[in-house]
Amino acid sequence: MITTDAVTMNTDQVSGAIGARAAQDLRDPGPASRIVEPAAPMAHRGAPSDVTPPRSLDEGPLLGRVTSVSAGRLLVTLTDDEAVQRATVSSLVALPAGDGFLMGVIDALAYSETSDRVTAQLMPVGAFHPAPEVGGTFRVGAADQPRIHAGCYLVEGEDLRRLMTCIADDVSHEERLVLGRYGGRDGAEVIANGNRMFQRHLAILGNSGAGKSWAVALLLERAARLRNASLIVLDLHGEYGPLAGGGIATRLRVGGPSDLDKGACDDLIYLPYWLFEIEELALILLNADDPHAADQRLWLTQRIEAMKRGRLAGAGNYELASTATVDSPLPYRIEDLVAAAERDDVAVIVVQPSGKVVPGPYSGKLRSLINRIEARCADPRYTFIFRPPMESYDPDWLPLMALMLLDAGGKTPGIKTIDLSELPTALVPLVTGLIARLTYDIQFWTEADKRTPVCIVCDEAHVYLRETEDGSPVYDWAMRRFETIAKEGRKYGVCLAVVSQRPSELNRTVLSQCNNFMILRLSNDPDHEAIVQLVPGAFAGVADLLPTLDVGEAVVIGDAVPLPVRIKLDKATHGPDSRTIPYWSLWANQPTSPEAISLGASALRAQSRTLARAEMTAKSAEAAAATD
Ligand SMILES: Nc1ncnc2c1ncn2[C@@H]1O[C@H](COP(=O)(O)OP(=O)(O)O)[C@@H](O)[C@H]1O
Ligand SMILES: [Mg+2]
Repeated sequence: MITTDAVTMNTDQVSGAIGARAAQDLRDPGPASRIVEPAAPMAHRGAPSDVTPPRSLDEGPLLGRVTSVSAGRLLVTLTDDEAVQRATVSSLVALPAGDGFLMGVIDALAYSETSDRVTAQLMPVGAFHPAPEVGGTFRVGAADQPRIHAGCYLVEGEDLRRLMTCIADDVSHEERLVLGRYGGRDGAEVIANGNRMFQRHLAILGNSGAGKSWAVALLLERAARLRNASLIVLDLHGEYGPLAGGGIATRLRVGGPSDLDKGACDDLIYLPYWLFEIEELALILLNADDPHAADQRLWLTQRIEAMKRGRLAGAGNYELASTATVDSPLPYRIEDLVAAAERDDVAVIVVQPSGKVVPGPYSGKLRSLINRIEARCADPRYTFIFRPPMESYDPDWLPLMALMLLDAGGKTPGIKTIDLSELPTALVPLVTGLIARLTYDIQFWTEADKRTPVCIVCDEAHVYLRETEDGSPVYDWAMRRFETIAKEGRKYGVCLAVVSQRPSELNRTVLSQCNNFMILRLSNDPDHEAIVQLVPGAFAGVADLLPTLDVGEAVVIGDAVPLPVRIKLDKATHGPDSRTIPYWSLWANQPTSPEAISLGASALRAQSRTLARAEMTAKSAEAAAATD
């Protein structure tokens, strides 16, 4: 069944009306494209159209007959050699049950020597109820079980394509998110439900080079067609730059040493120390092994709170001063904090009436803290925290920063890529955690009916969102920030898209909250286990299939997709800069560049490629002037 909606929607790059395609004699998508998973109930039905409804599913090739029915598993004994040839793990089959069909996927095949028969084990995925003229409806879960001896029919080729088209019709025009094609270029379009895809977190998993970043680019490109799309991509390798060039995204980056004197810029993100909650500040300013760590933490808490309140009260803002806490994002000066620490470190108390002089409560306890603050302030890698531009001390700076992250529907694209490629690895969890925390907090405090939901795309998530056992405080802290979003984000319009090549090392709490999984080629056993354990509805056959997927092919499982699905994802027009390095060819053709290596060494020293380049240009100019 095709609705007029469906045809209109096809102006959207997904060329050619489905109706026209349905009339073509399409090729069999092949056995490899028969992975099918539970889909959502059909809610929306449109008007009948000119498309041929699927022929009755029991007119397809008969594979065999049901010999065993139990909860969640069915056994079918295959009839003959031809059926054995046709049946493959992940094939979609239909079995008459009640007034419709139970749809299932073959997830195992076994040969018995005693009976000389092949048995197929099926996992039911849903029920299809044919309806005259409009095709039919598909529902997740199977109400009716087939009887013993019921036929088991293979759904393939055009039957499969028509069935998919009919099922995809469930998604209303506004909710459509076209992901690719089922079974290659000529296959039926895979139409996911865009609302469901982002409502309860999404995971994109697969080996390095399987096409995850391109899958992200595809989602971003599709989302960019919506006027107010708001997504924040944590871009660890600076791969998504070309999307900004293509007008899909706004590129932001974290301020580094080369940005010191620039002041506030449109593309620079600063995370000033005064934005930090005390727990976050403790991560970078305290050393747990320091004997005075507990006193220093207490001192920091009291002093920072007093400074924040004092500043507000000084400006006559008594109401805000009374509600401010140590964690309120209110500016203060780090120089003032150091000066206060210097004073309190040597402060004494004169006890009255005796006049006896005794050391103050923090006397001699703050020296190591002062040293650490000073070291951090001098460290170029911490520029974006400890040396923010002057403008950031202005009370209006925080709203501007919030807009930079969350503004959508304005002059610049609401999709933001945050380039973290110049950030030292050790700082990645802190920065990603802070961006996630700020995004969540701002959404939390925004009026519910005025909120634009936002998706944080966590590329290379295993770097900062891992299931740590090492007890590293900053990793634990970052993980908890993301866990909060995974558990609570749905209520406040914050969703996560977790992208990773190591699902087995990813944080379980976050993964277990994901409702949709786009799984690309994956060849590791521990990762397969993680998938089978975590992905609801991932039958064993999925794990077997994952290593065989081609680049850009995915199995999509979850409530956003209709029935499909092993699919060929569409290739984004503006892809990420994946930097697949042609080693052999480069070794053959590209001589080493001594300048590039020495520039690399200078950048390592300066912790900035931009600074290193500027330094080299200055040196060349000097050398040129000297020879003149
Ligand atoms: N849908 C696709 N169709 C065709 N080629 C693709 C597709 N997705 C990715 N590729 C190719 O695969 C390579 C690796 O993709 P990438 O997304 O960077 O992988 P990953 O992020 O998983 O490491 C890219 O060079 C790209 O050209
Ligand atoms: Mg990638």
